[in-house]
Amino acid sequence: MHPDYDDAPLLDRLGRPVRDLRISVTDRCNFRCRYCMPREVFGPDFVFLPRDQVLTFEEITRLARIFRDLGARKIRLTGGEPTLRAELPKLVAMLKEIDGLELTLTTNGTLLAHLAERLAAAGLDRVTVSLDSLDDAVFREMNDMDFPVALVLEGIDAAARAGLGPVKVNAVVRRGVNDHTVYDLARRFRGSGHVLRFIEFMDVGTTNGWRLDEVVPTSELARRIHEAFPLEPLEPHYTGEVAQRYRYADGAGEIGFITSVTQPFCAMCTRARLSADGHLYTCLFATQGTDLRGVLRSGASDGELRTSIAAAWRAREDRYSEIRSEGTASLRRIEMSYIGG
Ligand code: GTP
Ligand code: 5AD
Ligand code: SF4
Ligand code: SF4
Repeated sequence: MHPDYDDAPLLDRLGRPVRDLRISVTDRCNFRCRYCMPREVFGPDFVFLPRDQVLTFEEITRLARIFRDLGARKIRLTGGEPTLRAELPKLVAMLKEIDGLELTLTTNGTLLAHLAERLAAAGLDRVTVSLDSLDDAVFREMNDMDFPVALVLEGIDAAARAGLGPVKVNAVVRRGVNDHTVYDLARRFRGSGHVLRFIEFMDVGTTNGWRLDEVVPTSELARRIHEAFPLEPLEPHYTGEVAQRYRYADGAGEIGFITSVTQPFCAMCTRARLSADGHLYTCLFATQGTDLRGVLRSGASDGELRTSIAAAWRAREDRYSEIRSEGTASLRRIEMSYIGG
């Protein structure tokens, strides 16, 4: 077992505790990123979850408290696009009542200019904003809904002003799509106080047409950035952090690389994912989840819920990214927009 995990109340089969709970609050999104919700699949006829199947704020908060008791220390609200969920600040305020949890949010940033103040006032600690390019034409093509870069930059500024920084900026890199624009991103966020992180394009779900040759390996990308702006490696903030951290040698701050494909980090993976309809997934690449909503709505006690969650976590042996192969490629995996990345 890893020494950092000595005090964990619950471990999976590979000795990993549950530290981070990613809660998807909606399966809807105002973007149609081609690598996540391609419009041919998520078009006008796509059936999203009906409201009565989505967990209520009370249900989410109850589960979050039980996860905290089982070892969770951080909650990240995700989607789809989490800011589309009505009254999101109210949920944040309810979660804030639970001691010992850091509260974070991953968003595409389009509604942050309106919401940042209210989210911060409700107790949100930090945000991560996705932004794949600063080139408007490239960005509009990637989100496939004609959203401009400026709106996201306004959202990032609003978040920083509201005290939700340092803002992490996530950029998924696809060779031939936006990899020629990575320098602009690096230049824009150097010295800004925000932390840019490049993410290797992953084979999540089954609809995004993933191909290995579209992945720009971090080894290559970090070298390219280093040639333009010299980098020095940094230690991880915490055991199991997904991003490899570097600082600019000239003191212009930090940058990260999320190496999900070329250097998987399953050995230290402490993340649980709760879908908007209350299923627990123990891996981003899971093919099935545990129906906690069913348990909740059957009138179960907290003790019974705790038993269901603990049983699912104890049985966990996922390490998909480490065993990614032809053999796993054909599995019917859950979509990213359903469990929030
Ligand atoms: P912080 O360390 O608090 O910033 O959280 P985070 O990095 O886990 O959150 P964020 O949502 O910013 O994660 C960044 C991205 O890394 C995700 O959206 C995924 O694309 C990828 N990622 C996060 N967790 C996992 C994981 O468990 N497995 C894999 N393969 N990729 C992950
Ligand atoms: N590969 C890598 N990252 C992805 N994201 C969504 N789909 C993919 C994918 N196929 C990212 C989003 C966001 C985070 C939640 O996950 O851009 O930053
Ligand atoms: Fe929406 Fe994020 Fe998926 Fe893009 S990556 S479609 S913004 S959920
Ligand atoms: Fe964790 Fe699964 Fe990602 Fe590995 S592939 S890091 S086990 S979520």
